[in-house]
Amino acid sequence: MPFTLNLTADYHRGKLNTLGWEMTVSNALYPQDSPCRSVLKDPSSYGRHLYDYLAGFFPLSEISRILEVGGGYGYLMREFLECNPHLRPLMVDISPALLEKQKEALKDFDVMFREADFLELDDAQLEGIELAMLNEILGDFPTAVDVPAEILDPSLSPDALDGPLQRIRRLYDFYSLGRPRTSTFSFNLGAVESVEKLCRAGVPAIFLGEHSCEASVPEHFARYIFIETSDSPQRIALKGHDEYTIKMSHLQQVAEAFHYRVLRGPFADFLEIRYSDALLALLESRKIAEESHEIIFHFLEDLFLYEYLILIKV
Ligand SMILES: C[S@@+](CC[C@H](N)C(=O)[O-])C[C@H]1O[C@@H](n2cnc3c(N)ncnc32)[C@H](O)[C@@H]1O
Repeated sequence: MPFTLNLTADYHRGKLNTLGWEMTVSNALYPQDSPCRSVLKDPSSYGRHLYDYLAGFFPLSEISRILEVGGGYGYLMREFLECNPHLRPLMVDISPALLEKQKEALKDFDVMFREADFLELDDAQLEGIELAMLNEILGDFPTAVDVPAEILDPSLSPDALDGPLQRIRRLYDFYSLGRPRTSTFSFNLGAVESVEKLCRAGVPAIFLGEHSCEASVPEHFARYIFIETSDSPQRIALKGHDEYTIKMSHLQQVAEAFHYRVLRGPFADFLEIRYSDALLALLESRKIAEESHEIIFHFLEDLFLYEYLILIKV
């Protein structure tokens, strides 16, 4: 049965040497003079905002073993360590070039580094981890595209399938993911398997954040920002590779099957917007008079396009 599996591993292992072109929300907020900070109630870093938010749900100050998968430049972990120097992080990344950047950013702290594809990481490495963070990486994991919906037919034995199709069928059956209404569909295979891996290992707290295909804008903001919602992961063409948006509800269903409490929302929940007169005037006019305006529009859109899941083992 024809379908494609979108993979980014070779790109990350080989060609990638900078994230420059791929502006993540965390990196957008990194420079102290970032125009993105000016639209927030509290103009501090992504890491500080996230740390304070997570601390409201579980005792983060008592945690020491923290895992970050796909830490990019290492800024988020450095900001966490500035909030809590007792953390003992493990950084797992597939990209040797980005691991080097993480080592540089985190050189003043006691941090362990592993070069590995998270999906192939030995589960023993997850033992004792108290908090796992996967920030803007799920879309890099394998996504199956144009999968024929007939693979989900109850009349078709899963044994008649092999490889990724058999894995997709197992996940749909096991977690009752609900049959798509279209004749072909896309599926975040790697993202779903990574959540299953973390939950199966019993990691007590998990933070996931990524560009969601199911995102929406609250009514009071919908006149300024338009977001297209989709039932199915959408392709994002990037330099040297493609990523796919994430169907967060699938990840949620997997976590709930493992009896995790799930909190879900847009990044705007912890990166709270300050609705100043200047910002509202800018949004009303939609005029991009300078580069910083374009950065701000893009950032505000991302605050709703990106969703998080906080999974807490109960
Ligand atoms: C888009 S960047 C996000 C970086 C950072 N978390 C941020 O928000 O700025 C994705 C990161 O995930 C890493 N990555 C991609 N696929 C991976 C995999 N299969 N296993 C481990 N790391 C991976 C990349 O090398 C990179 O560090």
